[in-house]
Amino acid sequence: MQSSLRILIVAAEMTPFVKTGGLADVIGALPRALVDAGHDVRVVIPRYGWIDCQQFDLTLHPTLLPVPLNERVEHAQLFLTRLHNITVWFVDYPAFFDRDGVSMYDDDDHRFIFFCRAALESCRQLDWQPDVIHCHDWHAAIIPNWLRTTLADDPFFAHAASLLTIHNLAFQGVFGHRVLEIAGVPALDFAVTESTDARNSVALLGRGIYYADIINTVSPSYASEILEPTAGAGLDPQLRARHDRLYGVLNGIDGTVYNSAADAMIASPYTMDDLAGKALCKAALQRELGVGVHADVPVISVISRLTNLKGYDLIDEIIEPFLQQQRVQLVVMGTGQQRFHLRLNELRARYPHHVAFRLTFDEALVHRIVAGSDMLLMPSRVEPCGTGQMIAMRYGTVPVVRATGGLRDTVTNYHAPSNYGTGFVFAEATTHALRDAIERALVVYADHAQWRMLMMRGMMSDFTWQVAAVRYVDLYRRAIAARKSS
Ligand code: GLC
Repeated sequence: MQSSLRILIVAAEMTPFVKTGGLADVIGALPRALVDAGHDVRVVIPRYGWIDCQQFDLTLHPTLLPVPLNERVEHAQLFLTRLHNITVWFVDYPAFFDRDGVSMYDDDDHRFIFFCRAALESCRQLDWQPDVIHCHDWHAAIIPNWLRTTLADDPFFAHAASLLTIHNLAFQGVFGHRVLEIAGVPALDFAVTESTDARNSVALLGRGIYYADIINTVSPSYASEILEPTAGAGLDPQLRARHDRLYGVLNGIDGTVYNSAADAMIASPYTMDDLAGKALCKAALQRELGVGVHADVPVISVISRLTNLKGYDLIDEIIEPFLQQQRVQLVVMGTGQQRFHLRLNELRARYPHHVAFRLTFDEALVHRIVAGSDMLLMPSRVEPCGTGQMIAMRYGTVPVVRATGGLRDTVTNYHAPSNYGTGFVFAEATTHALRDAIERALVVYADHAQWRMLMMRGMMSDFTWQVAAVRYVDLYRRAIAARKSS
């Protein structure tokens, strides 16, 4: 039997405490699967001002937490709680974290470097020595750097290995050179590591890539795509230099949260064997959104940031004729570029019975939209993993996706002769390819028996965290081995 590991997970977000993106769901779910597999896990996130101590039963650790940074020592506080058997630590430092949002502030470099150091010092304070530190995205990417420099001779961390998970290479934590002073680390010799856009800028994510014992992204396809310039976004040379340490591990979804058979948030739960509830969910959704209640008009949904990266521009360019001819109803939830908000409001005014738009992100509404829709559109230009498509399939909602990253790895293209596939997949990020995929989907939709089988194949798909946790434990062991041999 292999030994159980002490795993410290460091991230900026975790559901249910704070969520701005898919990262939070990963941090909410992966630790549970690791604990179930017998490992000893601590998660550490900042204590943002809105995280309510009473609601989540946070207790204050009695001793102040000294955080040494750049020859100064500041004092933070540490809150602790337990959630589903997971111990979560919260770094409390109101000057940095008692704000309205998670990031996008001028001092983000200082805030998150401080957070990282505090995360490490928490281990010392609580005398809990991690075997591996699992760092997520740029927010935590300075840690692998310190383990190799500042903390290399620190006996407490002498054996700690690091795994860096990249959730989206589009966010690299790019700052000016002062970030090196704050972190107390020297500049690297070669420009490519430091500079992704302007001269004299430092990408914290690049530092993580350079120093981490092992690196991974959130799907196998994305792990190979980022070795090329388009998806590599300036860091591809560095990723290529370390490609022997780069892996792709597909995220899971939480089957207890996304379960059409026992979902208290939807109008009527349903299963593969009895889909009557899904029709009720569709009618309830149409009523709620104020579009026409029609069982046989397909409801096509978009739950996404409304940006070009997610391919929303492609949808915008092709959707109007479908609405004009009353062939589909379009349901959009999300926020993003202003011009898409305006366009959606125009479309809604022009086709009130066929368009619904919610400029928000509301988790309960996600459940109702997914359960009540026939298709979910995800024409992303880049999609490291994506969870919408997996959730959709579990609810018998057919994904229409571009073959990229995690979308390519989770959805298989419908193929009539062999009665195969779980969705509609297209290759090029063009209006033509998207229109064609929607047309193909509408043809099959009209054939009730075929559509039903397509839905059922999706509902049978299994994207659990258990599978991902096994892969992660393998990467932790690889990181520990790499650390030992270095
Ligand atoms: C990022 C990616 C998304 C992925 C999520 C969780 O938000 O854009 O594709 O599913 O992280 O890893």
